[in-house]
Amino acid sequence: MKHIIAPSILSADFANLQDDIEMINESSADWFHVDVMDGVFVPNISFGFPVVTAVNHHAKKPLDVHLMIVDPDRYLEDFKKAGAQILTVHYEACTHLHRTVSKIKELGMKAGVALNPHTPVNVLEDIINDLDLVLIMSVNPGFGGQKFIENTYEKIRTLRQLCERKNASVIIEVDGGVNKNNTAALLKAGANALVAGNAVFSAEDPIAEIAELKKINIEALQA
Ligand code: DX5
Ligand code: ZN
Repeated sequence: MKHIIAPSILSADFANLQDDIEMINESSADWFHVDVMDGVFVPNISFGFPVVTAVNHHAKKPLDVHLMIVDPDRYLEDFKKAGAQILTVHYEACTHLHRTVSKIKELGMKAGVALNPHTPVNVLEDIINDLDLVLIMSVNPGFGGQKFIENTYEKIRTLRQLCERKNASVIIEVDGGVNKNNTAALLKAGANALVAGNAVFSAEDPIAEIAELKKINIEALQA
């Protein structure tokens, strides 16, 4: 399977959001990555339902919604209504993760769990078979444009092994500091979905940048 590229609209121009949405529609990107932050789970506030709904109104690709909020159970239905197709909650924010994941799936969305950089992959041992996606944070969540944490490669490999051992088929998505210099190594480690915010939106030609991220494969490492 060709890897998924999910540009993060956190780095978009919010005053001209529709233009950036159309840009992603026209590009070879697969998903819209939508970062919701509550100022409690993470030290930043991004946007809420009106913006997610507006993005969904124009988006022609699935919304991959990443909740960086405490007590996400309160809002699962609202995110479904706002247009989320993939809904990812943080392991660190869910006391009854199995219940949360079951509810997301009952609502007809794909269920993802995100792990902060300090959270080991093995905490997912008993839930991995229930998940559609694991989001490995390669920065501390809260802001775009941060530096990629190198330990991420090891975590991806460990997750890949866990999936093989448990015969689980999940999408392994990586979020934070992804760019064309680390893409091939991330794919080689076992990632198959990559979020890119700053790399896309600070590029002179974002459509070309997305195409380049999409085109990279692990053969690039041998070159
Ligand atoms: C960080 C967010 C990311 C962010 C990625 O908390 O979850 O999705 O937008 O941005 P870059 O690619 O700039 O690190
Ligand atoms: Zn994110």
